[in-house]
Amino acid sequence: MLDVAGLNVRYGKSHVIFDLELHVAGGELLALLGRNGAGKTTTLMGIVGLLPGASGRVEVAGRDVSRWPAYRRARSGIAYVPSGARCFPNLTVVENLEIASADGEAGWNRERVFELFPKLEGLRGNLAGGLSGGERQMLAVGRALMSNPKVMLLDEPTEGLAPVVVHSLIELVGQLKQTGVAILLAEQNHQMALRVADRAAFMEKGMIAEQLPAAQARGSEVLNRILGI
Ligand SMILES: Nc1ncnc2c1ncn2[C@@H]1O[C@H](COP(=O)(O)OP(=O)(O)OP(=O)(O)O)[C@@H](O)[C@H]1O
Ligand SMILES: [Mg+2]
Repeated sequence: MLDVAGLNVRYGKSHVIFDLELHVAGGELLALLGRNGAGKTTTLMGIVGLLPGASGRVEVAGRDVSRWPAYRRARSGIAYVPSGARCFPNLTVVENLEIASADGEAGWNRERVFELFPKLEGLRGNLAGGLSGGERQMLAVGRALMSNPKVMLLDEPTEGLAPVVVHSLIELVGQLKQTGVAILLAEQNHQMALRVADRAAFMEKGMIAEQLPAAQARGSEVLNRILGI
């Protein structure tokens, strides 16, 4: 569903992502793990089309979107949940959801997002800027779902959340996978990520140093070697 090949990213003169290749099938979850500065966020932003210094090939469901600007890639089925649960602070909860709305097979709409996150329904008229971190994270995930994506890229969605919210979020991501979406999950919280992942890609200095089935990655020496755990 998501095929990336030869992805290179430069910030000005500094080259930070090197010939990166990754593939995520529909219904599969690939965890992108690595230390601070390894290049996880840059990889996701390069795939979404937000970095002018990115080059390489990005395909969504077999369609080459490499030359498309970010808004067109979004319409082609890539949803992006940025780190820090960034929402539009001056828009309400409902407006944040509706702005991303697009028809699609999965049938996500406002009502279903509210079923999934009942807390958000009670806040529907509130400005996103006034929500708590956990509420904004739900809103950011809900907004991504509203576009009925084929591919979801999540950047540290558990960051700053209470443990109980982390658990339900990870459970939710596992359920989403079952709807056939291809998920790329960048996480510092490797234990949580490996709980729902099918495979793990370990990044180091802008490259994928190792890829393993998640079952093999749990408790392996790779965690120690690459993540320093
Ligand atoms: N806007 C920028 N300009 C220049 N260099 C940048 C920029 N953003 C990131 N970098 C550099 O690119 C490299 C990868 O950063 P990136 O944010 O992708 O890492 P990360 O794996 O997401 O880290 P973290 O776990 O801290 O979020 C780092 O060396 C970083 O300093
Ligand atoms: Mg990051």
